[in-house]
Amino acid sequence: MNLQDKVAIITGASSGIGKAIAQDLDAAGMRLILTARSQDKLEQLASSLNQAKAIAGVITEPEMPQQLVDFALETFGQLDVVLNNAGVMTVGAIEDVDLEAICQMVRLNVESVYRMAYTVLRHFKKVGSGFLINTSSLAGLKTVPQYGAYNGTKFAVEAFTDALRMELAGTGIKVASIAPGTVDTGLYDHWNQEDKDYITSGGALQPEDIARCVRFILEQPDHVLIPRLLAVPTNQPV
Ligand SMILES: NC(=O)c1ccc[n+]([C@@H]2O[C@H](COP(=O)([O-])OP(=O)(O)OC[C@H]3O[C@@H](n4cnc5c(N)ncnc54)[C@H](OP(=O)(O)O)[C@@H]3O)[C@@H](O)[C@H]2O)c1
Repeated sequence: MNLQDKVAIITGASSGIGKAIAQDLDAAGMRLILTARSQDKLEQLASSLNQAKAIAGVITEPEMPQQLVDFALETFGQLDVVLNNAGVMTVGAIEDVDLEAICQMVRLNVESVYRMAYTVLRHFKKVGSGFLINTSSLAGLKTVPQYGAYNGTKFAVEAFTDALRMELAGTGIKVASIAPGTVDTGLYDHWNQEDKDYITSGGALQPEDIARCVRFILEQPDHVLIPRLLAVPTNQPV
């Protein structure tokens, strides 16, 4: 896809991987709708880019996906790409884990991905083209003790992405996942030092590394689809 003037919605755009994707796709000439809860951060990012608009909100709210699609169409007149990227990571031993946080994670990492996907794919089907990329994880391909619930959310994203890709083959719509290993972002801010040391034991990618991968997926010619791109730190022993 030639990215010049194409329009993308990016969820989880206020920080980390989503922010880096926004900066990279802006540099490629795309027009962007940025969403997350933190209005200040979003507006600051949007004003630093060439053609970006911020719309703050909680992505698990059922009406949010349609609002985002409508906003993209009203603002830029088209919608070509959706990056389903917002997510959180809660892990821990059975005795310690915060069950409410686990259930909120499931709503964000799984339910909101489904809601967003089905809403945008109906639009893509109407216009006969579009590209949906879901942010999965290495944790969507391999399990780790104490990571079970997070693993489950990302395995769900992988399965959903793969089934959609097959369902939509031949329609002009592409579906793919980006599966990062450890990336240096705010995802681990609430973790204790021992868990942070474990997750970064093989080093960490920078958000810009994942943004480059996403752009690579998007920039393939029409007849090429990369269904999943797994990117890990060279020294991560996985
Ligand atoms: N970092 C890693 O090592 C890693 C590895 C593999 C996969 N991933 C995945 O990459 C994605 C991005 O994570 P990140 O590492 O960039 O972490 P991050 O910097 O914490 O970014 C998470 C983003 O999601 C948004 N968000 C969180 N809860 C939300 C909610 N309820 N409604 C709307 N937006 C919400 C956050 O913005 P607000 O707080 O402003 O809402 C933020 O923009 C996630 O899906 C994560 O699972 C990360």
